[in-house]
Amino acid sequence: MHSDVQRILLSGEEIAERVTEIAEKITRDYAGESVLMVGILRGAVVFFAELVKKIDLDLRFDFMVVSSYGNSTDSSGEVRIVKDLSQPIEGMNVIIVEDIIDTGYTLKNLMKLLRTRNPKSLKICALLDKPSRRKVELEGDYVGFKVPNEFVVGYGLDYNEKYRNLPDICILKPEIYS
Ligand code: IMP
Ligand code: MG
Repeated sequence: MHSDVQRILLSGEEIAERVTEIAEKITRDYAGESVLMVGILRGAVVFFAELVKKIDLDLRFDFMVVSSYGNSTDSSGEVRIVKDLSQPIEGMNVIIVEDIIDTGYTLKNLMKLLRTRNPKSLKICALLDKPSRRKVELEGDYVGFKVPNEFVVGYGLDYNEKYRNLPDICILKPEIYS
């Protein structure tokens, strides 16, 4: 275990099992269809890579970088597209793959934007969900785990861009955050 980690919330093994379940569900739900998996950089990279390997469908990749202006004092929120999709999504089954749904601002705004491009369907797949933090009404269609209101790192998630490579979802020692 990394010396900055206080405890492991979800082990790599537990995550792998859940990722398999989600991939099997997506494979069943979209049987006979093509899907475009859209990974949100950078946090979703590890989840995305593990997930797509286990989905048995006609599947394509794309990626976006977004940053949300949303905060507690700005109820509308706004999403800034830092890197857009590289292709149109009209008529496609799109699944957005995100690391965690926290306040919900990022995905709410992203969904609104992508809907204007007329995909055939648009769904959210998130590894983690922190429902107690939600500021806007938003639910993931495929969610790995609900987590308590604690800051987590690992399996793609960062604190100041570090710890993304940890194989488990972890809680850091309090002194690391101060
Ligand atoms: P929101 O749902 O718009 O508030 O933002 C979600 C984004 O905040 C995620 O994509 C993460 O980048 C980041 N985030 C929220 N909670 C955590 C956490 O516990 N650890 C690491 N990143 C987090
Ligand atoms: Mg992120």
